Amino acid sequence: MVQFTRYFVVLSVATGGLSACKCGVATIEADIDTLVRQVTAFDAAIVEFPPTNGSVNDALAIHAYATSIINTLNTAASDVEATGEFSEDDDTAILSAVEASVSTVLGSLLEIIDKKPGFETLPICGIPALFLQDLQNLQNASVGFRNTLISTVLATLVANFTDPTNNIAAAFEPAITTYSSLIILSTAAQSEA
Ligand SMILES: *[C@@H]1O[C@H](CO)[C@@H](O)[C@H](O)[C@H]1NC(C)=O
Ligand SMILES: *[C@@H]1O[C@H](CO)[C@@H](O)[C@H](O)[C@H]1NC(C)=O
Ligand SMILES: *[C@@H]1O[C@H](CO)[C@@H](O)[C@H](O)[C@H]1NC(C)=O
Repeated sequence: MVQFTRYFVVLSVATGGLSACKCGVATIEADIDTLVRQVTAFDAAIVEFPPTNGSVNDALAIHAYATSIINTLNTAASDVEATGEFSEDDDTAILSAVEASVSTVLGSLLEIIDKKPGFETLPICGIPALFLQDLQNLQNASVGFRNTLISTVLATLVANFTDPTNNIAAAFEPAITTYSSLIILSTAAQSEA
């Protein structure tokens, strides 16, 4: 019993020590590094996709990047929730990574609109429909991560996180509309035929 009590005390001290240490923040910073890397790869894969004669594999690679970004956003959101409030320094580091990824994502959203004809003319159909789903899931996961961050950051930094991400949901709309109308067009073409 004495031993049990001592063990219990040691355990509580260790637990208190854990919540005070930077473990949670290191995890979130690692999530954000992963996010920045995946967003950069997603963007590069779209930029490199040729306007004609692209390969199905390259298109599927873009889909795979989108899927990993969605997973990372969801993981990052739950890690942020589990960690709670960070220090100002950590918030600043997270903010600059978030700003960098937002601007890369905005670029990708314009490029994926431009590359639409290249995806439409691939030898297998269904890629534009897959991208529509990816864009909707990316929008949802981005908004989810943004809202989790905003609900967690220090009160003095809420505006710093809110402003650069204010239009993130709206930024997806032109790409989502473009890919939605593709599907409507091809359905119309089918019913005419
Ligand atoms: C695309 O492929 C077609 C058929 O293989 C070929 O005739 C055409 O030159 C190619 N276009 C480009 C830009 O590579
Ligand atoms: C947050 O925003 C305020 C007001 O614009 C600015 O003075 C401050 O430097 C920002 N902090 C960070 C960490 O970016
Ligand atoms: C949107 O994201 C939230 C988490 O932020 C998740 O609970 C929900 O299932 C998602 N909805 C869709 C349609 O993916």
